[in-house]
Amino acid sequence: MNLTQKAKEILADFLKGIESPASIDATCGNGFDTLFLAQNSGKAGKVFAFDIQKAAVENTRELLQENSLLDRVEIFNAPHEFLKEKIPQEYFGKINAAMFNLGWLPKSDKKIITKPESTIAAIKAVEEIANKRKNLISVLAYPAHGGGRREFEAVKEYLLKFSPKIFADESNAASPALFIFEIR
Ligand SMILES: C[S@@+](CC[C@H](N)C(=O)[O-])C[C@H]1O[C@@H](n2cnc3c(N)ncnc32)[C@H](O)[C@@H]1O
Repeated sequence: MNLTQKAKEILADFLKGIESPASIDATCGNGFDTLFLAQNSGKAGKVFAFDIQKAAVENTRELLQENSLLDRVEIFNAPHEFLKEKIPQEYFGKINAAMFNLGWLPKSDKKIITKPESTIAAIKAVEEIANKRKNLISVLAYPAHGGGRREFEAVKEYLLKFSPKIFADESNAASPALFIFEIR
């Protein structure tokens, strides 16, 4: 099962039912998830994208520009745990979707990875500004890499309170896991 694809299928279906959704890509990397959110947001939709790496932000901006969708996206070279400081307050209480694709940026420095404390802080920030009537969040975690197991365990424990749907290869403890949940 391709879990990146699975997250997109589920979120695309959810976003279809929302007029002008507001979304967050908490780890924009090469921009593929930001592009996906922008493509599924309509003209009046909004996507806020975050990454701590300058190269990631540049790649994302380029990809969105190539697809003529930059006008509905704001990209921040900032850590996602500070997302409330970057997203305009008029969007507080209006966030419908958020994607967290954890780990490192493919084909780059594998030492720059998401960390359990900041990932959970960012999830908490999303909880504070989510649209409590209509939201869906995806978190894709990778227990197989150095640091990944600790993050996976911490995130899983934190997310249990949302009774998430979990997609993973049950027969393989190192398999990536996709958590899908609603904030109430
Ligand atoms: C697996 S990649 C994301 C892939 C991306 N969603 C895509 O579609 O290409 C994880 C990203 O998280 C970023 N990252 C790590 N810590 C972060 C933090 N505290 N805040 C925001 N981004 C972070 C890394 O720089 C990396 O680009």
